[in-house]
Amino acid sequence: MEENRNSFSGSLGFVLAAAGSAVGLGNIWRFPYLAARDGGGIFLMTYIVLAITFGFTLLITEVAIGRRSQQGPLTAYKFFNKRWSFIGYLSFVVPFIIYPYYCVIGGWVLKYMCTYVSFNSKEVVADGAFGSFISGQWTPLLYTIVFASLCFVIVYRGVEKGIEKFSRIIMPLLIVLVLFICLYSLTISHTDANGVTRTGIDGAIIYLVPNFEGVTFKRFLMIVLDATGQLFYSLSIAMGIMVAYGSYMRRDVNLGKAVDRIEIFDTIIAVLAGLMIIPAVYVFMGTEGMSQGSGLMFVVLPKVFHSLGVFGAILGAAFFVMVLFAAITSAVSILEACVSSLIDRFGWSRTKSVFLIGGIGMVLSFIVCKGYNDLYFEYVLPNGTKGQILDIFDYISNNILMPFLAICTCVLIGWVVKPNLLVGEMRLNGYKFRRKTLYVVMLKYVVPIMLIVLLLGCFGLY
Ligand code: PHE
Repeated sequence: MEENRNSFSGSLGFVLAAAGSAVGLGNIWRFPYLAARDGGGIFLMTYIVLAITFGFTLLITEVAIGRRSQQGPLTAYKFFNKRWSFIGYLSFVVPFIIYPYYCVIGGWVLKYMCTYVSFNSKEVVADGAFGSFISGQWTPLLYTIVFASLCFVIVYRGVEKGIEKFSRIIMPLLIVLVLFICLYSLTISHTDANGVTRTGIDGAIIYLVPNFEGVTFKRFLMIVLDATGQLFYSLSIAMGIMVAYGSYMRRDVNLGKAVDRIEIFDTIIAVLAGLMIIPAVYVFMGTEGMSQGSGLMFVVLPKVFHSLGVFGAILGAAFFVMVLFAAITSAVSILEACVSSLIDRFGWSRTKSVFLIGGIGMVLSFIVCKGYNDLYFEYVLPNGTKGQILDIFDYISNNILMPFLAICTCVLIGWVVKPNLLVGEMRLNGYKFRRKTLYVVMLKYVVPIMLIVLLLGCFGLY
């Protein structure tokens, strides 16, 4: 397939495509609910520290692996060492698990968008509206099918390029909108039935200032684990996607700079999304509301929009349209990752691969949807939270498989191949690699050791 490997026109093309994959529901839906559940400030601080150490190390490693080997994830690891080719297979499994439940949440976003666009926003403001929507028999399934079909058509026809053009306009608009909602969130206040008044500023303090009171060591480790899983998910690392992007990147592009840009952009959006949602949860639902879990965005934002009257309904419509866009660009990258792996590995046609992955994905999405009605049960995950099928899929991919894959990548590049090979890749064309020492120390020691400790905790071993 080598002759088909077309390159991005330059650094910006790469940044846009990779950022399109990175910025999605992870930033806007997943980050705020984890941050709220894990106490706000502690999570935020941990996440930022991890992003500039772990995130930077792994993102560089993956993109450089791709560019150096000029191959997709399934064969790239083999290029460095035959015995480590299993990492490639693992990196196929991760997006395969993520894709079905990503489509389900994409379906939720689609439903909310339709509700707002058709001026029915009152429907979703009521308490319990979200719960009864997702536990419905047919509606969530229907929206999931529409979302998944959209992704299917895009990947089948290979029209991602058109979408990327759109996302150049939509992404900056999304940031402006999120910023506006953040500022507004800070100004709201609400007095509940007990006569307690809570303000957005108090909520922002909970989100921004770490509070270690009553946090045990074990609890802290769980927060670090959540933040690590979130970091991998949000940056689309430890699942082969960045390796694939790296392989399309031209040799004359400054790799370090491009990677920095993606990371900064992705982190800023996540942090802002938290600032948009967490103060509002606190205002309307107090600290108890913060542990809601995966439905948080869908429960809180309608209340915020509602408090803005007619303008809020328009704002809500614009918001969900943009989030849907961000979700599609990410979902497409996940599906494309699976599909291109099959094409590369087995030489299958695009049609056969898309139908196979799309079909299995659809069946799994149904099961995830049914997890909220016919197949409902409450499962206590090793980190102590209760979850349904969606949360179990999410936990297996983000908290178990991704850290494991990242450990293997660190050992392969840090110890078997030696980091110098990739450092050389960074310095190609005389570009400087400023954080080289930090990179090598992180890759060889800090990241793998920390991840092993975390992974043990993830199996409930302490
Ligand atoms: N990083 C994307 C997001 O933040 C999600 C994603 C996960 C994309 C896995 C690709 C692969 O929404």
